[in-house]
Amino acid sequence: MDTRKRAGISIKTPEEIDKMRVAGQLAAEVLHFIRPYVRPGITTGELDDLCHHYIVKVQQAIPAPLNYHGFPKSICTSVNHQVCHGIPGSRRLKNGDILNIDVTVIKDAYHGDTSKMFFVGEPSAIAKRISRVAYECMCIGIDMVRPGVRLGDIGYAIQRHAEKHHCSVVREYCGHGIGRRFHEDPQVLHYGTPGTRELLEPGMTFTIEPMINVGSRHVKMLPDGWTVITKDRSLSAQWEHTVLVTNTGVEVLTKRSQDDL
Ligand code: MF3
Ligand code: CO
Ligand code: CO
Repeated sequence: MDTRKRAGISIKTPEEIDKMRVAGQLAAEVLHFIRPYVRPGITTGELDDLCHHYIVKVQQAIPAPLNYHGFPKSICTSVNHQVCHGIPGSRRLKNGDILNIDVTVIKDAYHGDTSKMFFVGEPSAIAKRISRVAYECMCIGIDMVRPGVRLGDIGYAIQRHAEKHHCSVVREYCGHGIGRRFHEDPQVLHYGTPGTRELLEPGMTFTIEPMINVGSRHVKMLPDGWTVITKDRSLSAQWEHTVLVTNTGVEVLTKRSQDDL
């Protein structure tokens, strides 16, 4: 999300954590549900319709993006050099496209937020590479989560991995605390300095969602006011999970049983 200031990190109670687990699993199931539909010829608007119907009618949940600060659709679909917050519409997917589908559901007042990359037909070598590096960046971050670690440690590790592979980390958007609200404190930057920023404590829930570019880290906003693209039009990839800090480590609330990378 964007980098506006918000107040206070909420520590979830066991009852709230149960609800976060349910919301997280529903969000994960939407990504699993949509997988077979992502193929050449479908439009991003059709993908949105399918997800909207599944969330509302099957899951009896609420698609959080719809009307969020005026966002017009139920999911975000970001294709190729689109970084995040792509608005589903009449764009038809074609062989070789890559896209991120970002799903956030609200169930029983709690949010689950997750996204993954999809390949449309056969991806190019560079498309596979940027998707893999972004996936690894997310996993490196998740694997570090435990009480006593600082968010700056995690941001640093993610940035180091991206830059080791000659990719760049988008700075204008970050992960976020999540719970009753879609975007809560803290901001989870995907770059940074070890030993800085918030100390993790059991009961915190937040997302890790690195946006990784093939070219420079700089981005710009399309005139629609939502879609973020890379300034140099290089490919970008993003993966996202919602996680819980446990007493001993991490629980991935949006984990999918199969179907990764
Ligand atoms: N799901 C996005 C995130 O990971 C936020 C989308 S906000 C929207 O934070 F308004 F664009 F939907
Ligand atoms: Co998010
Ligand atoms: Co998201």
